[in-house]
Amino acid sequence: MSVEQARAELERLAELLGAANLAYHTEDAPELSDAEYDRLKRRNAAIEARFPDLKLDESPSDQVGARPAEGFAKVTHAVRMMSLGNAFEDEDIAGFDTGIRKYLGLSADAPLAFTSEPKIDGLSLSLRYEGGKLVQAATRGDGSVGENVTANARTISDIPAELQGAPEILEVRGEVYMSHADFAALNARQEAAGDKTFANPRNAAAGSLRQLDSEITRARPLRFFAYAWGEVSEQLAETQMGAIVRLHELGFETNPLTERCSRPAEMLAHYRAIEAQRATLGYDIDGVVYKVDDLALQGRLGFRSTTPRWAIAHKFPAELAWTRLEAIDIQVGRTGALSPVARLTPVTVGGVVVSNATLHNEDYIAGRDAKGGEIRGGKDIRIGDWVQVYRAGDVIPKVADVDLSKRPEDSAPYEFPHLCPECGSEAIREEGDAVRRCSGGLICPAQAVEKLKHFVSRAAFDIEGLGAKQVEQFYADGWIREPAEIFTLQERYGSGVQQLKNREGWGDKSASNLFAAIDEQRSIAMARFLFALGIRHVGEVAARDLALHYGSWEALTAALDTARPAALAHRAADEAEEGERLAAEAEGRRARISETRAAAQAAHAVPDEAASAWADLIGADGIGPILALSISDALANDHERAAIERLVAHLTIIPPDAPAADSPVAGKTVVFTGSLEKMTRAEAKARAEALGAKVAGSVSAKTDLLVAGPGAGSKAKKAAELGIETIDEDGWLALIGDA
Ligand code: IVH
Repeated sequence: MSVEQARAELERLAELLGAANLAYHTEDAPELSDAEYDRLKRRNAAIEARFPDLKLDESPSDQVGARPAEGFAKVTHAVRMMSLGNAFEDEDIAGFDTGIRKYLGLSADAPLAFTSEPKIDGLSLSLRYEGGKLVQAATRGDGSVGENVTANARTISDIPAELQGAPEILEVRGEVYMSHADFAALNARQEAAGDKTFANPRNAAAGSLRQLDSEITRARPLRFFAYAWGEVSEQLAETQMGAIVRLHELGFETNPLTERCSRPAEMLAHYRAIEAQRATLGYDIDGVVYKVDDLALQGRLGFRSTTPRWAIAHKFPAELAWTRLEAIDIQVGRTGALSPVARLTPVTVGGVVVSNATLHNEDYIAGRDAKGGEIRGGKDIRIGDWVQVYRAGDVIPKVADVDLSKRPEDSAPYEFPHLCPECGSEAIREEGDAVRRCSGGLICPAQAVEKLKHFVSRAAFDIEGLGAKQVEQFYADGWIREPAEIFTLQERYGSGVQQLKNREGWGDKSASNLFAAIDEQRSIAMARFLFALGIRHVGEVAARDLALHYGSWEALTAALDTARPAALAHRAADEAEEGERLAAEAEGRRARISETRAAAQAAHAVPDEAASAWADLIGADGIGPILALSISDALANDHERAAIERLVAHLTIIPPDAPAADSPVAGKTVVFTGSLEKMTRAEAKARAEALGAKVAGSVSAKTDLLVAGPGAGSKAKKAAELGIETIDEDGWLALIGDA
């Protein structure tokens, strides 16, 4: 779209939406359907995002009094709702304590207290109070944006409508759940009425809270425990425990099993005590949550991308059952991985019926681990075997063990396929990889469909109305074969003989909603876009790191194209190194790694600019050679690159927000070296990134600043040679205003 077209379109949309607003509010006769109205608004917002300078003073985006969206309105959380990291073993808890001490620079015997409380198996809810009044209740959603369920929350008796003596702004967070007794009674009522019953109390709670008619929610006995908070205009207390006590005084239910523990041994003792009471609590819990008690330390520890550093969930052990393995199916994933799935005679494991479980990979079936060692005492798994199934929380059930005494006499070892069951291409297992992969790429329908499913998934394009099921159907019918075709769906099937709205399962409204949802995502954040491409090793965190490092899609592709010869040289060196290791092992001598790598590199002519682009890529925070090679390969593959270019033609890729553009270190590449005394390395890195700096591990011509503490060695020397500014820790703190 040209600038002129955009300007004209924004004016047209402002006019249309203005007229529609008037008709809606003054006459009781809306001119546009809700879906069409929403579609136009989204189109307006998308064009504004692409051409911010063209936004009209009286932009429809800024007008209030818009109509409520269908279903639940979206709520952007003032403070993101995070999830929790998991721990399963006792040792993990000591590790959690040690990791925190390390991050904070605390010695092993410095006091460090934690709270310990049950992890409620329900769904989280954020309640916003302003001036002591409940003004909004929102579900977690994707953590940033949830659904507005205020009317429903008001029907829950554990949720006060008004608070006395609360901070002016207070967001209380906690878990909505259903007790065992209420769950059983609800299912009995549902069954008697011929309505669907729920598989477990959590599903019942979620289904009840997300009712469009709040009178239905009122009839469902939901409860609420408060355990955290979001935005607050004044601190609730100085400690987690103090804050929980305060929330209780304000009128919230808080869990009576919450305790303060001063060391890991006490945390584990409390865990055991809670576990012993699990069956008699009357509601589902799936573990114990530990949180650093001191809120100032919580603040220093901060968050990783989706979880706090100051809390962890210690999950209860898995639940077990025995059943028969009826068959082994092979599923082909997005990156071509062949995954064996156990088809089981259905069995109840911890209250849930399980009929499928993962078998991981071919080694696991054969009774070997990745290094060739024995697992399960070397017992292999065969079709017809009697197997032990276990599940932990919401983790996919696994086949854990096999009972050889019940093995049928005519059973045979399972032969893992060497051809892709979906497209017949050869399935190759590379050296060092536990997984066998289909080599068919996009000609393999399973890979293509899985890539599409990933593309539309929540953390990627998140297109409402286009989920895994729809993608499968569209693919099967040839309507959508690759991501780019999602964005031409309306052109091709919006009107004419073959129309989306005439397809089974689709109507006028759902079709126009889908087109609108697709339009809405024509502008997409760079990190989401990169993640959506489904390139191996490029997960959400790596996608964000790449977006932050390069700032635009054009810069990223230009850098990768320039770096390609160096990427190939790197791979050649890796392969040569592996060969040398094997040869050395066979000959009983020491491997000559660096000479071998150097020779392999030298055999590839790598221009200087390629070497420097490659060094910049693998030196970027969070990006190593494995990821770098993977994305380099993807973009150097003609088919894949062409498919990506076809997609990009339909999109506006929004550069990442610079975390703090006005800080003195924003956009600078900083390296820390030597020992730091006032903060740990991890803390320094997190702080620098929050201020918009890039933190690199090694000094290069791209480094802007070296922060060198005592004991700085070769990095300081290199920085001096390159004329790079070098300051000490105090200088750094003064620079960023933390001194
Ligand atoms: S604290 C920033 N405490 O578990 C951390 N979460 O797996 C906020 N949950 O999304 C969460 N009981 O829905 C916390 N006592 C508890 C909890 C709890 C259940 C849920 C919560 C969270 C999920 C993470």
